[in-house]
Amino acid sequence: MSANILDGKKISAEIRTSIKEEAEKLKARGINPTLAVVLVGEDPASKVYVGQKEKGCEETGIISRKYTLPAEAAQEELLTLVEKLNEDKEVHGILVQFPLPEHISETAVLTAMKPEKDVDGFHALNVGRLFSGLPCFEPCTPKGVITMIERTGIDIEGKKAVIIGRSNIVGKPVAAMLLARNATVTITHSKTRNLPEVVRQADIVVAAIGKPRFVTADMIKEGAVVIDVGINRLPEGLVGDVDYEAVMQKASWITPVPGGVGPMTIAMLLQNTLKAAIINKGA
Ligand code: GUN
Repeated sequence: MSANILDGKKISAEIRTSIKEEAEKLKARGINPTLAVVLVGEDPASKVYVGQKEKGCEETGIISRKYTLPAEAAQEELLTLVEKLNEDKEVHGILVQFPLPEHISETAVLTAMKPEKDVDGFHALNVGRLFSGLPCFEPCTPKGVITMIERTGIDIEGKKAVIIGRSNIVGKPVAAMLLARNATVTITHSKTRNLPEVVRQADIVVAAIGKPRFVTADMIKEGAVVIDVGINRLPEGLVGDVDYEAVMQKASWITPVPGGVGPMTIAMLLQNTLKAAIINKGA
């Protein structure tokens, strides 16, 4: 058997087309959806991600405003910028690219941000609302994972979902979102005993640990859906957290890297920015 490809590039292109139409409608009403993107320092991967976010905005008619600070910028300087963007009526969404340099507290930056402009969904208020099943900004990568599964027509209800990795950005929120859709959810991590055995039970596997080709074919149940959130930069190129070629032989559906979850993340950010434009119009 060879898995079907969950084509994030194609699904995200369809979503971007409808975002463009929505953005045009908002503009006709005098609302110009605007995203402020803040990059601190020179991290090469962060530069790539910020570039992709700006390109996504450009393609869909969303205005992006880029703010760059040097790696040695003081935390106070970044907090002042975030507070200025909070008050700027023309800015609907704010995104501060992570990771930040070590001397800056990511929590302090998120706490300073208005939750209603937090298009990443990382502010504690949005996290709490997500886990409580209340309306909120959902974080972009988990939202991309769920959207991909649902748009492909794969049922989540009643399935065993195993997540590998417990980060605040992916593992924990994707668990909450799968649980809200009635999956039976297990989060595994570096201290999990007999991890391969746990993953072998899964109907849906979400790999988000940042270890190249960590998920091998022997960990996968025949017919499982495998979502690879990993982006590992190796000398031979981009590689996911899943041993793609081997796992392909057992899974029913699999996401490629690149061209899987990555483009979905960007599309979800654009969607969240439109939502922010509606919430914050004239705010
Ligand atoms: N770093 C890695 N993923 C993300 C993300 O989704 N948003 C931000 N702001 N930083 C990240």
